[in-house]
Amino acid sequence: MARASAKVILFGEHAVVHGRVAVAAALDRGAKASASFDAQRSVLELEPWGRVSYADDADDEVGRAYAAVLEAAGARRAVRTQASVDVPGGAGLGCSAAIGVAVVRALAEAAGEALDDDEVCRRATAWERVFHGNPSGVDVAIAARGGVLAFKRGEPPRPLHPPFDVPIAVAFTGECSSTKSMVEHVARQLERRPEVVGRSLDGIDVLATKGAAAIEAGMWHEVGRLMDLNHALLAGMMLSTEKLEQACNLARQAGATGAKLTGAGGGGCAIALAPMGAAAILQAWRGVGFDCFEARIGPRVVILGGGEAR
Ligand code: PMV
Repeated sequence: MARASAKVILFGEHAVVHGRVAVAAALDRGAKASASFDAQRSVLELEPWGRVSYADDADDEVGRAYAAVLEAAGARRAVRTQASVDVPGGAGLGCSAAIGVAVVRALAEAAGEALDDDEVCRRATAWERVFHGNPSGVDVAIAARGGVLAFKRGEPPRPLHPPFDVPIAVAFTGECSSTKSMVEHVARQLERRPEVVGRSLDGIDVLATKGAAAIEAGMWHEVGRLMDLNHALLAGMMLSTEKLEQACNLARQAGATGAKLTGAGGGGCAIALAPMGAAAILQAWRGVGFDCFEARIGPRVVILGGGEAR
Protein backbone atom coordinates (compact mmCIF):
# COMPACT_ATOMS: atom_id res chain seq x y z
CA MET A 1 0.00 0.00 0.00
CA ALA A 2 1.42 3.39 -1.02
CA ARG A 3 0.89 6.42 1.20
CA ALA A 4 1.28 10.19 1.17
CA SER A 5 0.77 12.92 3.77
CA ALA A 6 -1.82 15.65 3.98
CA LYS A 7 -0.38 18.93 5.22
CA VAL A 8 -0.82 22.34 6.76
CA ILE A 9 0.98 25.46 5.59
CA LEU A 10 2.48 27.30 8.56
CA PHE A 11 3.74 30.18 6.43
CA GLY A 12 3.74 31.40 2.87
CA GLU A 13 0.70 30.09 0.95
CA HIS A 14 0.13 32.14 -2.20
CA ALA A 15 3.45 33.99 -1.71
CA VAL A 16 5.15 30.69 -2.63
CA VAL A 17 3.41 30.73 -6.03
CA HIS A 18 5.24 34.02 -6.66
CA GLY A 19 8.71 32.82 -5.69
CA ARG A 20 8.67 33.49 -1.94
CA VAL A 21 9.42 31.01 0.87
CA ALA A 22 6.76 28.77 2.41
CA VAL A 23 6.89 26.41 5.37
CA ALA A 24 4.69 23.33 5.31
CA ALA A 25 4.22 20.52 7.82
CA ALA A 26 2.87 17.02 7.22
CA LEU A 27 -0.09 15.68 9.15
CA ASP A 28 -0.31 12.08 10.31
CA ARG A 29 -3.25 11.71 7.92
CA GLY A 30 -3.43 11.63 4.17
CA ALA A 31 -3.97 9.28 1.24
CA LYS A 32 -3.25 5.65 0.47
CA ALA A 33 -3.46 3.81 -2.83
CA SER A 34 -2.80 0.49 -4.50
CA ALA A 35 -2.69 -0.40 -8.20
CA SER A 36 -2.94 -3.54 -10.30
CA PHE A 37 -2.78 -4.35 -13.98
CA ASP A 38 -6.04 -6.33 -14.02
CA ALA A 39 -8.18 -3.81 -15.90
CA GLN A 40 -9.49 -3.50 -19.46
CA ARG A 41 -9.56 0.28 -19.16
CA SER A 42 -7.42 2.49 -16.87
CA VAL A 43 -9.60 3.44 -13.94
CA LEU A 44 -9.17 5.30 -10.66
CA GLU A 45 -11.56 4.52 -7.80
CA LEU A 46 -11.55 7.20 -5.14
CA GLU A 47 -12.90 6.87 -1.61
CA PRO A 48 -14.61 8.22 0.48
CA TRP A 49 -16.58 9.62 -2.46
CA GLY A 50 -17.23 6.34 -4.28
CA ARG A 51 -15.96 8.10 -7.38
CA VAL A 52 -14.94 6.10 -10.47
CA SER A 53 -12.90 7.98 -13.11
CA TYR A 54 -11.57 6.65 -16.38
CA ALA A 55 -8.30 7.93 -17.80
CA ASP A 56 -9.80 8.12 -21.29
CA ASP A 57 -12.74 10.28 -20.16
CA ALA A 58 -11.72 13.81 -21.19
CA ASP A 59 -14.87 15.26 -19.58
CA ASP A 60 -13.82 14.08 -16.13
CA GLU A 61 -11.21 16.27 -14.40
CA VAL A 62 -10.06 13.44 -12.12
CA GLY A 63 -9.85 11.15 -15.16
CA ARG A 64 -7.66 13.72 -16.93
CA ALA A 65 -5.42 14.02 -13.88
CA TYR A 66 -5.12 10.23 -13.72
CA ALA A 67 -4.25 10.16 -17.42
CA ALA A 68 -1.57 12.81 -16.82
CA VAL A 69 0.00 10.66 -14.08
CA LEU A 70 -0.12 7.55 -16.26
CA GLU A 71 1.59 9.47 -19.04
CA ALA A 72 4.25 10.82 -16.66
CA ALA A 73 4.85 7.22 -15.52
CA GLY A 74 5.06 5.98 -19.11
CA ALA A 75 2.34 3.35 -18.38
CA ARG A 76 1.58 1.19 -21.41
CA ARG A 77 -0.98 -1.21 -19.95
CA ALA A 78 -4.44 -0.52 -18.51
CA VAL A 79 -4.22 -0.13 -14.74
CA ARG A 80 -6.79 -0.03 -11.95
CA THR A 81 -5.90 2.19 -8.97
CA GLN A 82 -7.84 2.33 -5.72
CA ALA A 83 -7.16 5.34 -3.53
CA SER A 84 -8.65 6.76 -0.36
CA VAL A 85 -8.05 9.88 1.67
CA ASP A 86 -9.00 10.89 5.21
CA VAL A 87 -8.96 14.71 4.98
CA PRO A 88 -11.63 16.89 3.33
CA GLY A 89 -11.01 18.12 -0.21
CA GLY A 90 -10.94 21.83 -1.11
CA ALA A 91 -10.04 22.62 2.48
CA GLY A 92 -6.39 23.66 2.35
CA LEU A 93 -5.07 20.36 3.72
CA GLY A 94 -3.37 19.19 0.53
CA CYS A 95 -5.96 16.51 -0.20
CA SER A 96 -5.37 16.44 -3.96
CA ALA A 97 -1.56 16.41 -3.70
CA ALA A 98 -1.73 13.56 -1.17
CA ILE A 99 -3.90 11.53 -3.55
CA GLY A 100 -1.62 12.37 -6.50
CA VAL A 101 1.52 11.29 -4.65
CA ALA A 102 -0.11 8.10 -3.33
CA VAL A 103 -1.32 7.23 -6.85
CA VAL A 104 2.16 7.84 -8.32
CA ARG A 105 3.71 5.58 -5.68
CA ALA A 106 1.06 2.89 -6.13
CA LEU A 107 1.67 2.79 -9.89
CA ALA A 108 5.42 2.54 -9.32
CA GLU A 109 4.94 -0.25 -6.75
CA ALA A 110 2.72 -2.20 -9.19
CA ALA A 111 5.31 -1.77 -11.96
CA GLY A 112 8.17 -2.77 -9.63
CA GLU A 113 9.81 0.62 -10.09
CA ALA A 114 11.81 2.36 -7.33
CA LEU A 115 11.33 6.13 -7.43
CA ASP A 116 13.21 8.82 -5.54
CA ASP A 117 11.23 11.71 -3.99
CA ASP A 118 12.11 14.09 -6.85
CA GLU A 119 10.67 11.75 -9.44
CA VAL A 120 7.56 11.16 -7.31
CA CYS A 121 7.07 14.94 -7.16
CA ARG A 122 7.64 15.38 -10.89
CA ARG A 123 4.95 12.82 -11.71
CA ALA A 124 2.54 14.08 -9.05
CA THR A 125 2.93 17.63 -10.39
CA ALA A 126 1.35 16.43 -13.64
CA TRP A 127 -1.70 15.47 -11.52
CA GLU A 128 -1.73 18.77 -9.61
CA ARG A 129 -1.51 20.84 -12.78
CA VAL A 130 -4.87 19.55 -13.96
CA PHE A 131 -6.56 20.91 -10.83
CA HIS A 132 -4.44 23.93 -9.95
CA GLY A 133 -3.08 25.32 -13.19
CA ASN A 134 0.02 26.87 -11.63
CA PRO A 135 0.96 24.86 -8.54
CA SER A 136 4.05 26.05 -6.68
CA GLY A 137 4.97 22.44 -5.86
CA VAL A 138 4.87 22.88 -2.08
CA ASP A 139 1.90 20.51 -1.68
CA VAL A 140 3.45 17.60 -3.56
CA ALA A 141 6.83 18.20 -1.87
CA ILE A 142 5.38 17.83 1.62
CA ALA A 143 2.99 15.03 0.59
CA ALA A 144 5.97 13.03 -0.69
CA ARG A 145 8.52 13.85 2.00
CA GLY A 146 6.59 14.40 5.23
CA GLY A 147 8.09 16.19 8.24
CA VAL A 148 8.44 19.97 8.08
CA LEU A 149 9.87 21.71 5.00
CA ALA A 150 10.94 25.17 3.94
CA PHE A 151 10.12 25.41 0.26
CA LYS A 152 10.98 27.87 -2.47
CA ARG A 153 10.00 27.35 -6.09
CA GLY A 154 12.81 25.95 -8.22
CA GLU A 155 14.99 25.04 -5.22
CA PRO A 156 15.31 21.70 -3.41
CA PRO A 157 13.04 21.67 -0.32
CA ARG A 158 14.88 22.16 2.96
CA PRO A 159 13.81 19.82 5.79
CA LEU A 160 13.45 21.63 9.12
CA HIS A 161 14.36 19.89 12.36
CA PRO A 162 12.51 21.30 15.36
CA PRO A 163 13.74 19.72 18.60
CA PHE A 164 10.32 18.17 19.34
CA ASP A 165 6.89 17.63 17.78
CA VAL A 166 4.04 19.96 18.78
CA PRO A 167 0.25 19.65 18.74
CA ILE A 168 -1.67 21.66 16.21
CA ALA A 169 -5.45 22.04 16.04
CA VAL A 170 -7.25 22.10 12.70
CA ALA A 171 -10.80 23.42 12.19
CA PHE A 172 -12.77 22.91 9.01
CA THR A 173 -15.11 25.86 8.40
CA GLY A 174 -17.34 23.71 6.20
CA GLU A 175 -16.79 26.14 3.30
CA CYS A 176 -14.84 24.68 0.37
CA SER A 177 -12.87 26.76 -2.08
CA SER A 178 -11.04 26.18 -5.32
CA THR A 179 -7.26 26.60 -5.01
CA LYS A 180 -7.13 27.45 -8.71
CA SER A 181 -9.55 30.36 -8.42
CA MET A 182 -7.97 31.68 -5.20
CA VAL A 183 -4.53 31.59 -6.86
CA GLU A 184 -5.99 33.48 -9.84
CA HIS A 185 -7.61 35.99 -7.45
CA VAL A 186 -4.18 36.80 -5.94
CA ALA A 187 -2.54 36.94 -9.38
CA ARG A 188 -5.17 39.50 -10.48
CA GLN A 189 -4.54 41.63 -7.38
CA LEU A 190 -0.81 41.48 -8.02
CA GLU A 191 -1.34 42.61 -11.58
CA ARG A 192 -3.60 45.51 -10.55
CA ARG A 193 -1.57 46.74 -7.58
CA PRO A 194 1.93 45.30 -7.99
CA GLU A 195 3.57 47.49 -5.35
CA VAL A 196 1.04 47.01 -2.57
CA VAL A 197 0.51 43.29 -3.12
CA GLY A 198 4.22 42.73 -3.83
CA ARG A 199 4.98 44.29 -0.42
CA SER A 200 2.55 41.89 1.28
CA LEU A 201 4.21 38.94 -0.47
CA ASP A 202 7.65 40.21 0.59
CA GLY A 203 6.34 40.58 4.14
CA ILE A 204 5.14 36.97 4.09
CA ASP A 205 8.56 35.91 2.79
CA VAL A 206 10.23 37.56 5.80
CA LEU A 207 7.74 35.90 8.20
CA ALA A 208 8.34 32.49 6.60
CA THR A 209 12.10 32.86 6.83
CA LYS A 210 11.94 33.97 10.48
CA GLY A 211 9.33 31.25 11.11
CA ALA A 212 11.65 28.55 9.74
CA ALA A 213 14.42 29.71 12.09
CA ALA A 214 12.03 29.82 15.08
CA ILE A 215 10.79 26.29 14.26
CA GLU A 216 14.34 24.94 14.19
CA ALA A 217 15.00 26.61 17.55
CA GLY A 218 11.78 25.13 19.00
CA MET A 219 10.57 28.69 19.82
CA TRP A 220 6.89 27.85 19.40
CA HIS A 221 5.57 31.09 20.94
CA GLU A 222 7.53 33.04 18.35
CA VAL A 223 6.27 30.71 15.60
CA GLY A 224 2.69 31.41 16.72
CA ARG A 225 3.24 35.19 16.78
CA LEU A 226 4.61 35.06 13.23
CA MET A 227 1.63 32.91 12.13
CA ASP A 228 -0.77 35.59 13.43
CA LEU A 229 1.07 38.19 11.35
CA ASN A 230 1.00 35.93 8.27
CA HIS A 231 -2.75 35.53 8.72
CA ALA A 232 -3.21 39.32 8.89
CA LEU A 233 -1.38 39.73 5.57
CA LEU A 234 -3.49 36.98 3.96
CA ALA A 235 -6.66 38.61 5.28
CA GLY A 236 -5.45 41.88 3.73
CA MET A 237 -5.45 40.07 0.39
CA MET A 238 -9.13 39.13 0.94
CA LEU A 239 -8.34 35.45 1.47
CA SER A 240 -10.02 35.11 4.86
CA THR A 241 -13.73 34.68 5.59
CA GLU A 242 -15.94 35.40 8.59
CA LYS A 243 -15.73 31.77 9.67
CA LEU A 244 -11.94 31.68 9.35
CA GLU A 245 -11.73 34.87 11.45
CA GLN A 246 -14.05 33.35 14.04
CA ALA A 247 -11.99 30.14 14.19
CA CYS A 248 -8.70 32.04 14.55
CA ASN A 249 -10.06 34.40 17.22
CA LEU A 250 -11.61 31.59 19.26
CA ALA A 251 -8.35 29.64 19.08
CA ARG A 252 -6.30 32.61 20.30
CA GLN A 253 -8.74 33.20 23.18
CA ALA A 254 -8.46 29.50 24.07
CA GLY A 255 -4.68 29.72 24.41
CA ALA A 256 -3.27 29.06 20.92
CA THR A 257 0.11 30.70 20.49
CA GLY A 258 -0.92 31.59 16.93
CA ALA A 259 -3.65 30.90 14.39
CA LYS A 260 -4.15 31.38 10.68
CA LEU A 261 -5.92 30.10 7.63
CA THR A 262 -4.04 27.36 5.82
CA GLY A 263 -3.83 26.71 2.09
CA ALA A 264 -5.71 28.67 -0.51
CA GLY A 265 -8.17 30.42 1.84
CA GLY A 266 -11.62 31.69 0.87
CA GLY A 267 -12.89 28.93 3.18
CA GLY A 268 -11.27 25.65 4.06
CA CYS A 269 -9.39 25.26 7.33
CA ALA A 270 -7.90 27.31 10.12
CA ILE A 271 -4.95 26.01 12.11
CA ALA A 272 -3.92 26.85 15.65
CA LEU A 273 -0.56 26.13 17.17
CA ALA A 274 -0.99 24.62 20.61
CA PRO A 275 2.32 23.63 22.23
CA MET A 276 0.55 23.33 25.59
CA GLY A 277 -2.16 21.02 24.18
CA ALA A 278 -5.17 21.61 21.95
CA ALA A 279 -8.07 20.45 24.19
CA ALA A 280 -9.36 23.95 25.08
CA ILE A 281 -9.18 25.08 21.45
CA LEU A 282 -11.08 22.04 20.20
CA GLN A 283 -13.70 22.60 22.90
CA ALA A 284 -14.16 26.25 21.87
CA TRP A 285 -14.50 25.27 18.21
CA ARG A 286 -16.90 22.42 18.89
CA GLY A 287 -18.99 24.82 20.96
CA VAL A 288 -19.80 26.78 17.80
CA GLY A 289 -20.12 23.71 15.57
CA PHE A 290 -16.77 23.51 13.76
CA ASP A 291 -15.53 20.09 12.68
CA CYS A 292 -12.05 19.88 14.12
CA PHE A 293 -9.22 17.58 15.10
CA GLU A 294 -5.83 17.60 16.77
CA ALA A 295 -2.68 16.51 14.97
CA ARG A 296 1.03 16.69 15.62
CA ILE A 297 3.61 18.38 13.44
CA GLY A 298 7.32 17.75 13.50
CA PRO A 299 10.19 16.00 11.76
CA ARG A 300 8.97 12.53 12.71
CA VAL A 301 5.46 13.01 11.29
CA VAL A 302 5.55 11.19 8.01
CA ILE A 303 3.50 8.65 6.09
CA LEU A 304 5.69 7.18 3.40
CA GLY A 305 5.50 4.49 0.72
CA GLY A 306 5.65 1.61 3.14
CA GLY A 307 4.16 3.56 6.04
CA GLU A 308 7.46 3.58 7.94
CA ALA A 309 8.91 6.69 9.57
CA ARG A 310 12.38 7.88 8.68
O1 PMV B 1 -4.11 23.43 -2.34
P1 PMV B 1 -4.18 24.08 -1.00
O2 PMV B 1 -5.43 24.84 -0.79
O3 PMV B 1 -3.85 23.14 0.08
O4 PMV B 1 -3.04 25.21 -0.93
C1 PMV B 1 -2.03 25.36 -1.85
C2 PMV B 1 -1.12 26.48 -1.50
C3 PMV B 1 -1.11 27.65 -2.48
O5 PMV B 1 0.05 28.40 -2.16
C4 PMV B 1 -2.34 28.52 -2.31
C5 PMV B 1 -1.02 27.19 -3.94
C6 PMV B 1 0.33 26.62 -4.37
O6 PMV B 1 0.38 26.04 -5.46
O7 PMV B 1 1.31 26.76 -3.64
